[in-house]
Amino acid sequence: MLSYALVACLSVLVAVLFLPPDWSVDLGKESQKLRLLSRSDLSLYNGEKGSRGLYLAILGQVFDVHKGHKHYGPGGAYQSMAGKDASLAFITGDFTEKGLIDDVSSLSPLQVVALYDWLAFYHRQYQHVGLLVGRYYNETGQPTKALLEVEALLAEGQRLKAQAEIEKVHFPACNSEWSAGRGGRVWCSTKSGGVIRDWTGLPRKLFSPVSGYVQCVCIKDPSTAEEDPSLQEYDGCRSDADSCMVGEDQVSGAVTKNRPMPSD
Ligand code: HEM
Repeated sequence: MLSYALVACLSVLVAVLFLPPDWSVDLGKESQKLRLLSRSDLSLYNGEKGSRGLYLAILGQVFDVHKGHKHYGPGGAYQSMAGKDASLAFITGDFTEKGLIDDVSSLSPLQVVALYDWLAFYHRQYQHVGLLVGRYYNETGQPTKALLEVEALLAEGQRLKAQAEIEKVHFPACNSEWSAGRGGRVWCSTKSGGVIRDWTGLPRKLFSPVSGYVQCVCIKDPSTAEEDPSLQEYDGCRSDADSCMVGEDQVSGAVTKNRPMPSD
C-alpha cells in the first residue's frame, strides 16, 4: 500500500517540479507578440457584424477564437463569452450578465484548478494574442495581486487533488448498486474505484476531508483501519465481509467532479 502511495506522490512531484504548466505566460519570450488590450479594446472583438475579430479572455489572457466561430460567433451557444473576460462563467455555467465576469474570488481551490484546465485548453486550441489590462495584468503586462491570489488558490487546489489521488490509491472506492427490491449494496473487487490491484479489500465508510463526503472505500488491512477514526464499519455488516447491504442514502458517495469539459 505504501509503495502505491509513494509512486503516486512521486509522480505528482515530478509533474509539478519538472513540467512547465501549459497555461503559463512567459513574458520574456512572448511579450514581443502579446498585445496589451483594455476592456473596451477587447469588446471590439465580439464577432458581431463590423467588429474587428473574435477574441475572448480567460484570467486576463486573450485568445483569438475565430476558428471557433460556430461556438463564439453570432448565434453560437457561447457568443456571450466573446469580447470579454468571463472567467467565472467557465465554472459556474451562469451566462447571465451577473455571471459573465472575471472576478473568480468566490471559487474554491478545486474549481480554480478546473478553470486552469480551461486556460490550458485555450492555449492548446487557439492563439494567445494578448493580455487584458485590468484585474489580472497591469498596464505593463505584469501580473496583479489578484492573479497571484488566484495562483495561490491553484496551488492549494493542486495539493488537494494530489491528496485525493493518493487517497484514491490508498483507499479505492467500492462498487455500489441499489434496487427497489433488494435495497443497497456496497462491495469491493480487485478493480473497484478504477484501481487495479492484487487484493480485494473490505468496505468501510470513509469521511474524506478532500471531498467533504462520506464514501465507501475498500481497505486492505482491517487492523490498521481500526486505529483510524475516519474509517467506520457498516452497521449490521461483518467486519471481514467484502460486501455489505446498506441503506439507499449510503449507496452513492462518489466525489462530484466540477470540471465541465475542456478535453482536447
Ligand atoms: C459550465 C458549463 C459549461 C461551459 C462553461 C461550457 C463551455 C463551452 C465552451 C467554451 C465550448 C467551446 C469550446 C471550443 O472552443 O471548442 C463548449 C462547447 C460545447 N459544449 Fe459546453 N459548456 C458548458 C456546459 C455544457 C453542457 C451542459 C453541454 C451539454 C448538455 C455542453 C455541450 C457542448 C457541446 C456539444 C460543445 C461543442 C463541442 C464541439 O463541437 O467541439 N456544454 N462548451
